[in-house]
Amino acid sequence: MVKSIIAPSILASDFSNLGCDCHRVINAGADWLHIDVMDGHFVPNITLGQPIVESLRKAVPRPGDVSDKPKAFFDCHMMVSNPEQWVEDFAKCGADQFTFHYESTKDPLALVKLIKSHGIRAACAIKPGTPVDVLFELGKYLDMALVMTVEPGFGGQKFMPDMMPKVAKLRELFPQLDIQVDGGLGKETIPMAANAGANVIVAGTSVFKASDPVDVISFMREKVNDNLKSKNLLD
Ligand code: DX5
Ligand code: ZN
Repeated sequence: MVKSIIAPSILASDFSNLGCDCHRVINAGADWLHIDVMDGHFVPNITLGQPIVESLRKAVPRPGDVSDKPKAFFDCHMMVSNPEQWVEDFAKCGADQFTFHYESTKDPLALVKLIKSHGIRAACAIKPGTPVDVLFELGKYLDMALVMTVEPGFGGQKFMPDMMPKVAKLRELFPQLDIQVDGGLGKETIPMAANAGANVIVAGTSVFKASDPVDVISFMREKVNDNLKSKNLLD
């Protein structure tokens, strides 16, 4: 069984008020924080690294922590070359999940095992040009698969509907897997992603820049839940 998970991307947050801005979207109903790490090499952009994740972890404890601060799961999307190099550091600085790109490694299965050996969840992302077939064997070792719905590198791009057959194929093969979509998701595009079977929704601009983030998050959750219910997959 799977559940709907809404994961706002902090790339669209106000970085000068990162902790408060994250509290705001968590209080509006977000489940995870999606943390886009870019190294200026795997993608043509630079974002953030361990010191920011470490600081944010202090402001936003893990779900289950006794603190009364707003809590969230940290979903680290690693758009970096040589991801192996960063697993230990990110596990230490507060990541709950490490998503590497299939295109960035020679041995995806060894990387999955390395990530899990650090006690965090392992996920694999595919860029728009990468066929979904590369996940058919790997899928059973993953905690989550990420189908990119934009070219990785920048927030605020247009959703690519032609990625939806990849999501549908993964849902057919792995009914119990967390399947994430990332890029251009909002109230207009969520029906396509939900119908294809995605249950983990990354949304940067549409949540952080919304005048009513509660409305956007609850709308997206309802669409995902309706689809999961129709497939008898809702947790
Ligand atoms: C793109 C990033 C996305 C991006 C999503 O490389 O992986 O997570 O921030 O932003 P929106 O929702 O604005 O498209
Ligand atoms: Zn991302």
